Amino acid sequence: MTSPDGRTLRAGVIGLGMMGRNHVRVWDEAVPGVQLVAVADPDADAVERATQGRRARGFDDPARMFAEEELDLVSIVAPTSLHLPVTLAALAAGVNVLVEKPIAATREEATRMIEAARDAGRMLTVGHIERFNPAIRELRRRLADGELGRVFQVHATRLGPFPARIRDVGVVVDLAPHDLDIMRYLIGSEPIRIFAETERRIHTEHEDLFNGMLKFANGVIGVLDINWLTPTKKRTLSVTGERGMYVADYIAQDLVFYANPEANGTWVNDGVTSVAEGEMTRRRIDRQEPLTVELTEFAAAVRSGGEPPVDPHDAMVALLLARKMVESAESGQVIAGEALEEVIR
Ligand SMILES: NC(=O)c1ccc[n+]([C@@H]2O[C@H](COP(=O)([O-])OP(=O)(O)OC[C@H]3O[C@@H](n4cnc5c(N)ncnc54)[C@H](O)[C@@H]3O)[C@@H](O)[C@H]2O)c1
Repeated sequence: MTSPDGRTLRAGVIGLGMMGRNHVRVWDEAVPGVQLVAVADPDADAVERATQGRRARGFDDPARMFAEEELDLVSIVAPTSLHLPVTLAALAAGVNVLVEKPIAATREEATRMIEAARDAGRMLTVGHIERFNPAIRELRRRLADGELGRVFQVHATRLGPFPARIRDVGVVVDLAPHDLDIMRYLIGSEPIRIFAETERRIHTEHEDLFNGMLKFANGVIGVLDINWLTPTKKRTLSVTGERGMYVADYIAQDLVFYANPEANGTWVNDGVTSVAEGEMTRRRIDRQEPLTVELTEFAAAVRSGGEPPVDPHDAMVALLLARKMVESAESGQVIAGEALEEVIR
């Protein structure tokens, strides 16, 4: 993969913690036509670990990296509170940006990032990695083909142990943007009403248990079951519709269809009359590491001058919906109408 003038694209990574190390590995080993040339992190040990056995130069400061290296694209994987300043610095240096999710801490920050990218004529996209999961892509294709008929409900489960390194946000802002984004992406409708309950059980500052509900404009009900309290990792998405149910497993990249046999030949007007237990089919999935797909598509979009793989506005909506969920839990109120519409604008 090369840039419009035919040369190899030059990539950098800023923030070399848990997730940044994956960006380093994937850019360096898995994306053809891209060379990882530089990485930056104030933590000298993190730089040492990331550059060991690689040709990339290490920097202790992103500003120095931008001054000394000419880059085409960069992954920003620093803590969320730094997404705004580091993104602005990258865009000012003429570099295309993929910033990790959540896009930023607030709407104001996200808006400044989106405007700065537009003004600089550079790409800004966001690492909503679940969009690149092959099981989710297959599910989206099958839903668009109408395999389930009318969709009734989307249910996201994202459970696991508490990640000790996350200090700045609670489980809702850290994890719910994934599922909120996937729900909008799959059903193509906007929420008109939301409600949430949260609890803080083990975490010292923020909530670690979250249950949320959304009603979408097209009638679909969204259910979110997310926590940092479960001793095993479970990440699934179930979609129930007229013709049965799909269950996608993000971790295994499995997609299973549970058919409603009553949906065959018993249509009354535009719907089915009953539900029974039918056959279960495991769909074939071409499994791939989602981060490899994500970074490959980012590089391809930079090369072709195409659209960002994830529109940063969608990423901002996912963040703001997560924040509204926290607001609903704190106030005990359902949020609807203008208070919700302003999030989507
Ligand atoms: N897409 C996903 O599924 C996913 C998964 C994990 C994390 N993330 C996101 O990635 C980001 C980083 O998360 P993490 O879990 O890797 O955190 P982490 O704490 O493990 O790593 C953050 C790194 O950033 C470095 N850093 C601090 N200040 C810096 C600066 N000024 N310039 C450059 N680097 C700096 C730290 O030294 C550290 O090495 C967060 O925004 C998080 O939400 C996304």
